[in-house]
Parts: sequence; C-alpha cells; structure tokens
Amino acid sequence: MAMAAEAVPASYVDAVACALGALVDLRDLGTGVHSTQIVELAIAVGAHYVWETRQLRELEISATLHDIGKIGIPDQVLHKEQGLDATEAANMRRHPEYGWAILRQVPGFEWVALYILHHHERWDGLGYPGKLKGREIPLGARILAVVDAFHAMISDRPYRRGMPVTEACARLGQAAGTQFDPEVVALFVDYAQHIYTPAPQEAAAASA
Ligand SMILES: [Fe+2]
Repeated sequence: MAMAAEAVPASYVDAVACALGALVDLRDLGTGVHSTQIVELAIAVGAHYVWETRQLRELEISATLHDIGKIGIPDQVLHKEQGLDATEAANMRRHPEYGWAILRQVPGFEWVALYILHHHERWDGLGYPGKLKGREIPLGARILAVVDAFHAMISDRPYRRGMPVTEACARLGQAAGTQFDPEVVALFVDYAQHIYTPAPQEAAAASA
C-alpha cells in the first residue's frame, strides 16, 4: 500500500530529488541549469499562498524536475534548436506524461508528479496533456507554467538573445487570463520587478 505523503521522511524525499536532479543534469545540462534557476522564482510565488513547509518543498522539487520527462525525448528532437516538425513537436509534448510516469511511482512524490504532469496546461483549457482549465489545474502547476515561460523568455539561446525583463513581464501580463492564471502572473510580476534591476538602457526606454 502506498505511504501517505506526510509519512515519507523528508530526508528520503530530499535524497531522491537530488539523485533525479543529477540524472536531469547528465541527460541535458541546459535543462538542468534552467530548472535550478526557476526554483527560486517558483518558491517566491508559492510563499504568497498559505502552504506548509512540505508543500513548498514539493513545489521546489517540481521546479527542479519539471522537465525530467525530456529524458525520454530522442536527442535529435531534444537538441533541435527550432523548427520542430509536427511529429517532433508531438513527441516533445509527451514530456510531461513521461515525467509523471517516472515520479508517480516514488513515495512522497505524488504532488510533484501531478505538478509536472500539468505544467504545460493553459488557464483557458488549450494546453496539454489534460486540457485542464482554470483552477482545475493544480496551483503548483500554474506557478510552474508562469516561471518556466518567464525564464525561457529572458534566457539567451544560440539563435536569439533573451528579452529584457520588462518585456517578458509585459508578455506575461498579456497572456494572463488566457495562457496563465492571472493571480499568479500578478504576484510574479510584482516579485520580478523587485528582484531584477533593469539595465540602464532598459530603464531609460521604459521611462521614455
Ligand atoms: Fe516542460
């Protein structure tokens, strides 16, 4: 019989999370670095909700491991920089289910598995894999969706520069209520504007 999440020792959960994180790094260091960098952003938003320490730790682990399912994506698709064809895109869109299939088997990772399964759902129900809508999507997954998109927008890629924080925040605002939970976007944008100091030219452009 499966153990209740509360009954699983935190030290065991931490050890498994570290081991799986190392696995993500080994498969694709870029995914690992990105995942580590969104942890702090996810926790900052999660801390606004009345969650127990254990729930915040689950969110932290979910952020670290959100793309673990990419382990199941072939190299030629995973490392293709842009322009996936329809078959490749469909293949890539399986990664939340792959992640869930791995983690649902680990005692103490029940919520982590669910957050990861639903991190590409959209507030308007047009996401994947479950086409869940609004608050049907677990809150942890709604938070992951926002911080994942934000960090992807501000990060440099071999084929493009990352966009300024102010522009990424504006895009999140435009997608609030369609792609993203509007409350999570509002909390996140407020946080991001406090922690990211705009570059001088960006600040000048914003005030012009
Ligand atoms: Fe993902």
